[in-house]
Amino acid sequence: MRGLSTLVTLFALSVPSVVLAGSSCIAFDANFNLLALGFNGKDYNAGTSDTWASGTPTDITAQGRPPFNGGSVKCYLAQFFNAIYVLGADTSKASDIYIYDAGAKTWSTQAVTAGGFDPTSFEAILDHDTNVFYAISKGNVWSLDMKELKAGGSGALAWVDGGAAAIPTTNYDPVMGIAQNHIYFFGVPNVPAGSAPIFVIHFAFWQPTPQQYGSFPASHGQATSFFLDSGVQQEIAFIPDDGSKTYIVNVETNTTQTVAGPATVDAKATYFASTNALLQLASSGAVSWMPYSASDANANSAAKWAPVQKLASLASSSGGGASSGGSSAGGTSGAQTSAGAKGSSTAKTGGSALGLVAAAMALL
Ligand SMILES: *[C@@H]1O[C@H](CO)[C@@H](O)[C@H](O)[C@H]1NC(C)=O
Repeated sequence: MRGLSTLVTLFALSVPSVVLAGSSCIAFDANFNLLALGFNGKDYNAGTSDTWASGTPTDITAQGRPPFNGGSVKCYLAQFFNAIYVLGADTSKASDIYIYDAGAKTWSTQAVTAGGFDPTSFEAILDHDTNVFYAISKGNVWSLDMKELKAGGSGALAWVDGGAAAIPTTNYDPVMGIAQNHIYFFGVPNVPAGSAPIFVIHFAFWQPTPQQYGSFPASHGQATSFFLDSGVQQEIAFIPDDGSKTYIVNVETNTTQTVAGPATVDAKATYFASTNALLQLASSGAVSWMPYSASDANANSAAKWAPVQKLASLASSSGGGASSGGSSAGGTSGAQTSAGAKGSSTAKTGGSALGLVAAAMALL
């Protein structure tokens, strides 16, 4: 047993962190710069979509950031405040919310009283206009008013219990999208394909019947909303767990566009959208994207997923806190070569770490 614990300790020391979709997140700031948070112990700004094809991201790691040690990190953009709210990124303070002020490039922490809310088991959206979180946890609807926070305040905020959800939640991990200050639920048991139950935020009211949107499967999946340059979201991307297609639901016209499914099929991937891009963070740490146009359905049906090359060196294969991919000076000319070299040198670290795991497994 002593041998095993030594090996486990060695393993922990040799691989301080590895990118996993569950413990990292991607998000956009209000200028639609892509932020990759909690990647091998660092945070990065990959800029706007026109710059993703090559180069390296800017290291924006700063004091006060969360440890990103949770298994289900969730990140949200408060568009009015250019702030990113990060939930579930610190197991020692499970209910607290870390706030990244993307304008000031500073981190702070907001204390949150969970009450009956379970910070380790929930799904949530951030309402665009009111800046209030709405969540489903333990079968109830909960809300948390983030006011106008760009930084953590002195007093604690608290989750407020809004009573039982009007949809079944026992065998359903909610798939929630926000648009027009309403919450849309995908893959709800007993709801037909192409329809979604709706929670009307401002009146805390469940529409009596699901709304028809056209065609998407009655399946579990992931959902994320496209932003507009200003104003509430109107479109939600729904990616079923089988990844076969991506469905873009417009809640103004109540129609659905069917576009390409992600190149990486991964039910544990997370998604985030800007005004013109849909991003996937796969379990491996790889980030890929598909361009999107709110006005050009033909372009959307021809659009394909591609890796965000600028973040390619940050995926889990580059493991270990030592490889600070972002700050390598020679990165701009011949990014491919430098990324390749980096990959092979760190692959060794990964290999020895795997060896240790194998050794630890053998002892078990
Ligand atoms: C779209 O659905 C919403 C929600 O059910 C409804 O209020 C609205 O009238 C519908 N609009 C159209 C154009 O069908």
